[in-house]
Formats: sequence, C-alpha cells, structure tokens
Amino acid sequence: TPVYASSRQLPIKKTLGVSSMTTHPLSPLTTEEIEQGAALVAAQLGEQGSFSSVNLIEPKKADVLRHQAGDAVQRELRFVGYDHPAEGKRDGGFEGLVNLSTQAVVINRIESGQASIGLADFVAAIQITKADPDWQAAMRLRGVTDFDLVQIDPWPTGGYVHPSVPEGHRVHRAISFVKEDPTDNAYARPVQGLIAHVDLTAGKVAHLEDHGVVPLPPEGARYDAASQPEFRDSLRPIDIVQPEGASFQVDGHAVQWEGFNFRVSIHPTNGLVLHQLSYQDGDENRSILYRAALSEMVVPYGDTDPMHNWKHVFDAGEANIGSLTNSLTLGCDCLGEIYYFDHNVVNWNGTARRIENAICMHEEDYGILWKHRDSLTQSTEVRRSRRLVISAVHTVGNYEYGFFWYLYLDGTIQMEVKLTGIIGVSAIEDGGERPDVAPLVAPNVTSPIHQHLFCFRLDFNIDGLENSVYEVEAETVPISDDNPEGTAFRAKTTLLATEQQAQRDCYPQRSRYWKVVNPDRKNGLGKPVAWKLLPSASPTLLADDHSIMAKRAGFAKHNLWVTQFEEGAFNAAGDYPNLLNKGGDGLPKWIEADRQLESKDLVVWHTTGVTHMPRPEDWPVMPVEYCGFSLMPVGFFDRNPTLNVPPSNACAKD
Ligand code: CU
Repeated sequence: TPVYASSRQLPIKKTLGVSSMTTHPLSPLTTEEIEQGAALVAAQLGEQGSFSSVNLIEPKKADVLRHQAGDAVQRELRFVGYDHPAEGKRDGGFEGLVNLSTQAVVINRIESGQASIGLADFVAAIQITKADPDWQAAMRLRGVTDFDLVQIDPWPTGGYVHPSVPEGHRVHRAISFVKEDPTDNAYARPVQGLIAHVDLTAGKVAHLEDHGVVPLPPEGARYDAASQPEFRDSLRPIDIVQPEGASFQVDGHAVQWEGFNFRVSIHPTNGLVLHQLSYQDGDENRSILYRAALSEMVVPYGDTDPMHNWKHVFDAGEANIGSLTNSLTLGCDCLGEIYYFDHNVVNWNGTARRIENAICMHEEDYGILWKHRDSLTQSTEVRRSRRLVISAVHTVGNYEYGFFWYLYLDGTIQMEVKLTGIIGVSAIEDGGERPDVAPLVAPNVTSPIHQHLFCFRLDFNIDGLENSVYEVEAETVPISDDNPEGTAFRAKTTLLATEQQAQRDCYPQRSRYWKVVNPDRKNGLGKPVAWKLLPSASPTLLADDHSIMAKRAGFAKHNLWVTQFEEGAFNAAGDYPNLLNKGGDGLPKWIEADRQLESKDLVVWHTTGVTHMPRPEDWPVMPVEYCGFSLMPVGFFDRNPTLNVPPSNACAKD
C-alpha cells in the first residue's frame, strides 16, 4: 500500500447547482465552478484520485465570436488527474469533462501520455524516497544523517523510464540536496550521483541509481536578504506616480487601453493568455489575434552526466506552469499603479484555491516614442513612448519564468520571457570540471548547459478569419547591368503555401521575418493589411534528431510552424506529453496532413528561447535573462498611428 494513500480520498460533495455570475464565454473559472465540477468528477470516478489541473474548455471560436452581451454561456470544465488503478492497468490518469449546465460528466482514460504532475504525487515522491532504506543508507554513506535537512526534487523522467519500472506506471526521478539548516538554499549542495526512480503507481523506489560518492561542495549559496553581510547604501528611491490613475479600463477580465481591446486569463498549460485582441480604429474594432499564449516549452539538458542527460521537462504540459503562478506583491514584483487579476486553481483533493494577484497589469514609460529636430527652424517634436504590461511569474522547481506581454502605443505587441531562479548544478571533485558541457559556477559546483525553448501559439485573425503567411528576408542582388556596383539588395517574399512548407527557422543575417496578411483587406495605399512576427536570434533544439528528447519535443526543432486552425489544438506537444508519451503528438502530427494555408483560418506557432551556458554570475541566483519576439503592424495602419499622442507636459509649447 502506498504510504500516502490514507490522505488521498477525494471529498465527495453535494452538487449545489450553478449560480455563476459568468457573462462571457471566456470568463475564467470561479472557485464555485471548480468545486462543483470537481465534486461531479469525484462522484463519477468512484475511486480514489488526485487532481492535477482544471481548465475552462473554451467554446468554439465561431460561438465566441457570435456571442453578444446577455447571451447564455456554456460552462464546460476539463479536470486532469491520476488514480493509480489496480495492478497491471496502465496508470495514465484521467480527464474529467464536466458540463456545469447539464451536470453531465465524461471520464476518459488518458492513453496518449500521462496526466500532468500534481502536488499530491510530487509530495508522494518525496515521502517515498525519504522512507526508502537504500536511499537512507546512500545518504549516510555521504555523511548525511538528518534527513529533515534533505530537499528532494522529483523530476519527470520523460521517455527515460528505468527498466525496473513496469510499463505503464507513473514514475519520477528524485534527486537530493542538503541544507545546513531549514532556511538554507539547498541547491548549494547537490548530492551527486544519486537518483531514486520512484514508482508512484507501486508506491516505492523501484531502483536507486548510485554513481559513487562525491563530497558535498564546501560553500553555501544563500541569497536571502537576511544572509547578506551588508547592503549597498547608494541607491536612492524610485517611485512611479500616476496622479490621475492608469489609462486602462477593466471590466471583469476585459481590458481597454489606447485602442487595444483584449481579455486576459491563465490556463494551466498555456499560462498567461490574451484572448480576442483587437484594435479600435475609428469606428471599427479590428481583430488581430483571437488567442495568444505559450503552447508548450521544454528545457533539454546537454550534459552527459547521468544526473542530467535525461532531463527535458515540459514545464507547460507536464508541470502545469499556469497552476504554479506566483501571488505578486506591489512594490516588489510590480511598481507603480497596478491592477491585479486573481487566478483560481484546483487542489489535489478537489477544493479550489485562489491565487491572489496572479496577473499584474500596469503602464510603463518606455523612453522616446519618436523625435525629430528641424535644424532650420530649430523646432523639436518628441513624444514619450509608453507600454501596457500584462505579466505573470511562475515557479517551476528551481526556476522562475515570467511571461510579459507588452502593448505599445504604436501598435507593437511584444512577448518577453524572463528567466530567473536557480540553475541546475552538479557537485564535482577538485579538477573534475568539463567546461564545454558544465562550466564551473562556484567551488566544486558546475552547471550543465541547457536550453529553454518556448513555443507560442498565435491564433491570428487579422481583420477576419482568413489570412496567409509569407516569409520575408533580405537578399543580395548579383552584379549585373542593372546593378553595376553590386550594392543592391532587396526583400524577397515567399508564400508559405502549405503546413510542411511552413516549418521555418530564424535567419538573423538575412533579417528574416514572417508576415501574416489578410489578402482581402486593403489599407489606404491599396495594399493588403498585415502584421509581422519579428523573431529574436532564437536557437532550435540541439539534441540529436534520433534522441528521445527530439522525438518528444518536435515543436522545438523549428522556430516557425503554421497550421490550419483546428478547435482544441492548443498544445504543441499534444495534450498529454507527460511521462509515457513517446513523442510525435502535436505539431509534427498535425502537419502530416500538409493542409493548404493560403487565405485560411490559420495558427502561427513560434519557438523562441535561449541556449543557456551558465556563468559564475548566474550563481547563487540568476539575474533575469530574456528572450521573446515582437508582432508589429505592417500596413495595418496607413501611417504612424501615434501622431495624435500629445507632447508630455514638460515639453508642451505654451
Ligand atoms: Cu537556464
């Protein structure tokens, strides 16, 4: 019997009937809706289980677009969880689909992969490891006797399941870190070489992998304020003051700011989501993006050290990044005139939990928007740039990921991912470093090189559903009679006509970008309106094509994919990439059909990221590293749309 079984009975509640205040089909789930839905699922399951996540099943796009204020709203929820069925059965977990209006419940067993990680099996993996006599003996061999000071980090094993674990079981790999005292940063002292393969289905350590004792590193790595010997006293306060308040309006989860209209929510897999983003252009509310959010991400490790060579977490689909959202604090996480949105999640036992201040929204001054000085008249016109920031920060184990959507006055939409937290580490013997795969970051501590690859799903609907995508890049023109000096270069524009043609990569030397066009809607110059996806110099997946990582993280092999829009196709590695999933789901499968993309309702998928080669400066806590992309109007407007931005008071002429 698993040691944790007694605490895992789901509370079965009486259903109360829905009395929701929901007015929009995309309104986020309330705590009442979550608890009512969870009780319905628990009643159907009829056996013990734990919930990993819940999300609103978004109604069909056509229905959402047709929705008018006051229309009835369908509320359907999807719960994901696991229940460790009887011996010999596949422990894939379940999805519980609930219609709150009809009280109908459908339970499906998850066959393509396994249910995402939940807090209950995270805690179980820790308890099982610490109770294992072999693990205890291995720790004593390393001089560690107080197991209360050991931090266990369970990791998803991906496709790398140890042979001692029966096929179909739910499994984590647990690695250990030792603290000096309960407040210590455990990552200072990794227990090198020791991996517990925790079979969660059987409730035991199936195999303890021990590559031999390496001494714990000598130095601590405390980064907390209380541990610093002194603070610099040179920094003077900065306050952000908006005496007349912020310039946005909020109605529930709908926002208006400087022409932009959108809705905001958090999804367990996709994190921070912008819905129905449009721009009020005169009398017309022009659609740009139906939905924009992270789809999936992967963090593959490049080091061959057996502590790391299997690590490639899908922090979205496996770890539910959206359910790991921080509660943000005014003046610390966000500065100025802040509006916060809360987010509701399901606990393992079916109760709901409100994450307060989960989404932060505010305005930031962003330097100059534009400027020109007329030298002859000696007159200067300059305008201040400003952006609206919509952000959320998620803690996934040792790392923090911040997702920041920025909207600018000139129409630019930017996604910036902020990576911070604590890097993964190994302990090494003196002189045992391998700087090409794991640079030294502290005495006897190395950090493996790795990647963070984020695939964003951008459901464009530029002035309507039917759009096309072109690749645009600069090219050199050979010397000819027309180009005698050989100085010519030009823009080359290529239609991405089918899904397979639309697997593309960044090419910064050629200023390559991708342009989403509505061919039927012309601007004032008679040209089709468009937005461009301007990538940064992003890497793609470096793991060998034949590796398990590459099979499972196919979406990361290209920076760009384009597919025809398909209801419910949100996740670039499939809905259940966890554990048993062998790969191939999501984008690689969808594009096998090689559907036509010209003048279709289509979805653009962009993989951006970093290849992280750790530095000593990343230790003991990593200053924010950035990656991301921009979306910019290209002939969506007829000219610079910011001429009507007034000069700031300080420079207004009297
Ligand atoms: Cu990193």
